[in-house]
Amino acid sequence: MKEDLVLPAPAEKSTGPEGEPLLQVSGLTKHFPVKGGFPIRRTIGAVQAVDGVDLTVYEGESFGLVGESGCGKSTTGRLITRLMEPTSGTITYRGRDISRATRRQLAPIRSEIQMIFQDPYSSLNPRQTVGKIIAGPMEINGINPAGGRENRVRELLETVGLNPEHYNRFPHEFSGGQRQRIGVARALALEPKLIVADEPVSALDVSIQAQVVNLLQKVQRELGIAFVFIAHDLAVVRHFSQRVAVMYLGKIIEVGDRDSIYARPRHPYTHALLSAVPEVSLTEGGAPSRERIRLAGDVPSPLSPPSGCRFRTRCWKAQDKCATEEPPLVQIPGNHDGHLTACHFPEEPTIEARDEDIILDPALAALEEGTSRTEPTEKP
Ligand SMILES: Nc1ncnc2c1ncn2[C@@H]1O[C@H](COP(=O)(O)OP(=O)(O)O)[C@@H](O)[C@H]1O
Ligand code: SF4
Ligand SMILES: [Mg+2]
Repeated sequence: MKEDLVLPAPAEKSTGPEGEPLLQVSGLTKHFPVKGGFPIRRTIGAVQAVDGVDLTVYEGESFGLVGESGCGKSTTGRLITRLMEPTSGTITYRGRDISRATRRQLAPIRSEIQMIFQDPYSSLNPRQTVGKIIAGPMEINGINPAGGRENRVRELLETVGLNPEHYNRFPHEFSGGQRQRIGVARALALEPKLIVADEPVSALDVSIQAQVVNLLQKVQRELGIAFVFIAHDLAVVRHFSQRVAVMYLGKIIEVGDRDSIYARPRHPYTHALLSAVPEVSLTEGGAPSRERIRLAGDVPSPLSPPSGCRFRTRCWKAQDKCATEEPPLVQIPGNHDGHLTACHFPEEPTIEARDEDIILDPALAALEEGTSRTEPTEKP
């Protein structure tokens, strides 16, 4: 039986951003060159992993970044934290352009931007004690907190819900959830202002995912740290993020405050992702309307993405214009402030239940023809 992730309902209504912009990303692009040819190897193409991403993260806010595997979420996270050099575009952190900053120039802000990785097994050095791992960032940055590093590590262990006495244990002595707590403690060690958490619970058992999400939520709120929370699952992000951005094939196709994205999504892809989230009701108030969209088929190759709108090969609303003109990410009529959608033929703001499944893969649709025939549903 499939276990569902059980999380408490969001406590407060999501509000728009209140703080100052902390991180501003504009036209962010990362293309990985692909080499080939014999006898002389040369660049024959490029994986367009991230292709013109604009986003802003405000001080102390939790920002969710969602999309299917391979859409460029991790690359975006690594670019933001400057673990990777962008091909083009700008990254501005607290008003400073850090897109091309050297190691030395980055040093003063290195401690302010931290990353939590997906895999709590490979991201911790198995030969180091927990104390050493958590103190690592303090050592590298030459930081000596009042009371000493060991004391600080004990405090951090307590903050993340681990026993401070386990200071001298090794990672293998902890469970997956506890290891991810160690990863969180290490990220907190330098009192960061921004944490990029790349699918921090995806590798964990469903039963402990909620505990780690709750811990992250607690530190985000209590310590006022801005989070970019990356997930492939809208369910996880929903409980954590005030604002949510949806990525598809290297681009952000919709972004807005949580309530807009979950209750009034306009992009067909956001609809499809939401319909895969069992607990989400797409109507405000009333009875839950379970829209069923089966997002079948593979994401096209980022080596040669479709022209125009990149979602058009899987979109049931696609028309000629979608192949020739790339839809800009803008506030379309009917959207709340700050809710941007990149689509020529967006969904209505109010969503009605569909009588039939929409099958997004023509091959699958052809197979199923006769049993449950589906026509593309067009809205005027
Ligand atoms: N170092 C790399 N070299 C070449 N291609 C890469 C590299 N890292 C990621 N990619 C490709 O870039 C695309 C986006 O990857 P990634 O950012 O990891 O996506 P996600 O985190 O959303 O699953 C994928 O097609 C992936 O294969
Ligand atoms: S622009 Fe066209 S193909 Fe792209 S999501 Fe909108 S309707 Fe679908
Ligand atoms: Mg990833």
